Amino acid sequence: MELNLTGDVAVVTGASKGIGLAVTEALAREGVRVVAGSRTETPELAALCKEYEVSFVPVDLAGADGAGQLVRSAVEQHGRIDVLVNNLGATSPRSGFLDIDDGEWQRVFELTFFSAVRTSRAALPHLLVQGGAVVNISSINARLPFPSVVDYSAAKAALTNLTKGLSEEFAPQGVRVNSVAPGPVRTPFWTAPGGFAEAVAAGAGTTGEEALDTVVPREMAISTGRVTEPHEVAELVLFLASPRAANITGAEFVIDGGQIKTT
Ligand SMILES: NC(=O)c1ccc[n+]([C@@H]2O[C@H](COP(=O)([O-])OP(=O)(O)OC[C@H]3O[C@@H](n4cnc5c(N)ncnc54)[C@H](OP(=O)(O)O)[C@@H]3O)[C@@H](O)[C@H]2O)c1
Repeated sequence: MELNLTGDVAVVTGASKGIGLAVTEALAREGVRVVAGSRTETPELAALCKEYEVSFVPVDLAGADGAGQLVRSAVEQHGRIDVLVNNLGATSPRSGFLDIDDGEWQRVFELTFFSAVRTSRAALPHLLVQGGAVVNISSINARLPFPSVVDYSAAKAALTNLTKGLSEEFAPQGVRVNSVAPGPVRTPFWTAPGGFAEAVAAGAGTTGEEALDTVVPREMAISTGRVTEPHEVAELVLFLASPRAANITGAEFVIDGGQIKTT
């Protein structure tokens, strides 16, 4: 399917690894000029910058200034923004609500919710010039709050809600806003040292890899029997960002292998 994205300019947050990296690569392969924001440039992102029209902007999106810096860089480089992918989001494994203090609630909301608020506020004036699309990476935890990530789940619920609010305001002016809600995806969020795969593995007496391949799909009742791969999320994001989805806005798309059982 021709996505008609060639020549567009996209800003992707949290682009150095995982889903953000997969989205950056998929957009770049479609001929999109991508401005990729994260704190560090991984070798994988550096390779994309060499091969495609991808530029890395070193930016910390946890604070008040990062979003403006990233968007300014995109406009300085390309003079326009057509697509914004608010991908950044983070948490870490803990035992439950009583384990999460104020500082941690604030850190998780900063990264998972306020980064999207600020990047959207900075980018929307540019998206409104010629129309475009915002895709927010939410999570199934927006509707399925796990006790160990109750703060993250609340932040994702806020992001899903924000998606609807922005879609209402900006659809009449030609900017669509949608969210994608993945279940477990094979990224450093799970696989990095200290990540969620290690935490599951410790409880199950196995390795992180084995935990992600068998324990997580079984314990989370993923109907397809496997976690999602980053490129599968990226393909959905690209469709939503493209004019192929011209009449889709304010919607949430779950990609979880059938983990959520309710309709
Ligand atoms: N993986 C999953 O199972 C899953 C499931 C549902 C939803 N999600 C959501 O999908 C999104 C991507 O997750 P992922 O699993 O791909 O995450 P990841 O593998 O942990 O990657 C996170 C990305 O964010 C960047 N980042 C972290 N802190 C940053 C900061 N302060 N400023 C700028 N960039 C920062 C990281 O790069 P640097 O470290 O270089 O800054 C990295 O590029 C998140 O919103 C997550 O909540 C993930």
